[in-house]
Amino acid sequence: MTAAPAQPRLVGLSRSEFADRLGDAIDVYITAMGYPRGTAKQRRTLWLEHSYRPGWRAVAWLGERDRLLAVSYGYWGGPGQWWFDEVRRGLRSLRGSGTDNSDWLADYFELTELHVHPDAQGSGLGEGLLRALLDGAGRSRVLLSTPEHGPQPPGRAWRLYRRLGFSDVLREHLFTGDPRPFAVLGRELPLPAPDHRRS
Ligand SMILES: CC(C)(COP(=O)(O)OP(=O)(O)OC[C@H]1O[C@@H](n2cnc3c(N)ncnc32)[C@H](O)[C@@H]1OP(=O)(O)O)[C@@H](O)C(=O)NCCC(=O)NCCS
Repeated sequence: MTAAPAQPRLVGLSRSEFADRLGDAIDVYITAMGYPRGTAKQRRTLWLEHSYRPGWRAVAWLGERDRLLAVSYGYWGGPGQWWFDEVRRGLRSLRGSGTDNSDWLADYFELTELHVHPDAQGSGLGEGLLRALLDGAGRSRVLLSTPEHGPQPPGRAWRLYRRLGFSDVLREHLFTGDPRPFAVLGRELPLPAPDHRRS
């Protein structure tokens, strides 16, 4: 008789565990996003640098033989960070249109990365990661950016964010150096309790 496959387990990663698993984490990211392999080296440096920022935390799902199936991390956003400055520029450009979303940048946790390996997508691991990362994140809001037109399967990231109550902060935003339009989405924390009718 063969043993049933082990259920994935959700774990928090310390900075050193994150560094040890960085190669696998970036592999999940590149595969999930459909990015070229060449982006890995530059991401390594950036992700490691992020892990020293205030409020940084990371979570992961581990499968059979502790294979990394999914990873997410983020940190407290603030002035002087590239992402903060880029989003502030976008929000300032909205002011003339009568929309004032500037409050969003006070006291937020930036959900920087959230990726589930394509083999493991579609069974709630993404929601589990997001909930674990944001539980006790130490800020009153969460912000993230996501491509307006994402990888396959279409719209899964969008469905997840909408299901959890994220609303539009900026749409069709162009970050410096990237031709793709992004949405910036946000919501108040804490998240509502999970809907147990799903399982
Ligand atoms: C976006 C992403 C992180 C979502 O993770 P996921 O595990 O695939 O998705 P979810 O947690 O939302 O769950 C997926 C499905 O499982 C279903 N599900 C089944 N059981 C569930 C449970 N107990 N709890 C929650 N969802 C459950 C949901 O209905 C959902 O269906 P849907 O996608 O058709 O709406 C993942 O698809 C991914 O990495 N995509 C590519 C990279 C990417 O776009 N990252 C985000 C960039 S900002």
